[in-house]
Amino acid sequence: MLGDRVMAEMIFYATTNDYSDADRYERFALDCKLDEKAVEIGKIVRYLSGYIPRFGAPLKILETASATGLTAVGVTSELARAGIKHGYTSLDIEQNLLLYAKLRQRGNSFVRGDFENLPFEQSAFDIYIMMGAEGYRPNGGFYPEAYRVLKSGGYYVMPQIGPQPIVRIAEKEDVLRSGFIVIRADNYLIARKSYT
Ligand SMILES: C[S@@+](CC[C@H](N)C(=O)[O-])C[C@H]1O[C@@H](n2cnc3c(N)ncnc32)[C@H](O)[C@@H]1O
Repeated sequence: MLGDRVMAEMIFYATTNDYSDADRYERFALDCKLDEKAVEIGKIVRYLSGYIPRFGAPLKILETASATGLTAVGVTSELARAGIKHGYTSLDIEQNLLLYAKLRQRGNSFVRGDFENLPFEQSAFDIYIMMGAEGYRPNGGFYPEAYRVLKSGGYYVMPQIGPQPIVRIAEKEDVLRSGFIVIRADNYLIARKSYT
């Protein structure tokens, strides 16, 4: 059961889309146990990394809607523990959240931008993570952009959170339409960009 405070904050964010107060968002994210979720995501990313041929190059990870960087902590800690070299780029549209994450060194590179119009070259990343911002993609550019910036053989990872943490059929159809191969669509959406 979600407490009254968490429910009130959930309604606040769903109705205002105001993420400018980073301390407030971090409190909410911790109440939702997103730090624990990040540990789980880290294990999945470590596992997927074994299927990505890199020939000694660091694993290049992009997270969008990265907020205060809790996911970055879980993923980079797990990769470091496993001795996997990596670079972690965090992108969010809200500058205050990026600054909060940057000050705490939650990731390596911090970019302000729109995940429907990514400021990156094509085929730049091995893994792309996005969690909890499905409702903020009005223009239909999200998956074409995810596909563009991932390398062939790279993975898109979208953990499900919230009251109904199951991938919607429409979401799965969107990802397929953009050219991805769906590997898993339950409480995680995991999709791979095929080799062209
Ligand atoms: C509910 S939070 C997502 C949870 C977050 N992944 C976490 O780990 O705490 C929604 C995030 O999406 C970001 N956002 C909203 N629209 C965006 C856009 N067009 N491009 C990039 N980020 C966006 C917000 O600034 C906010 O950080």
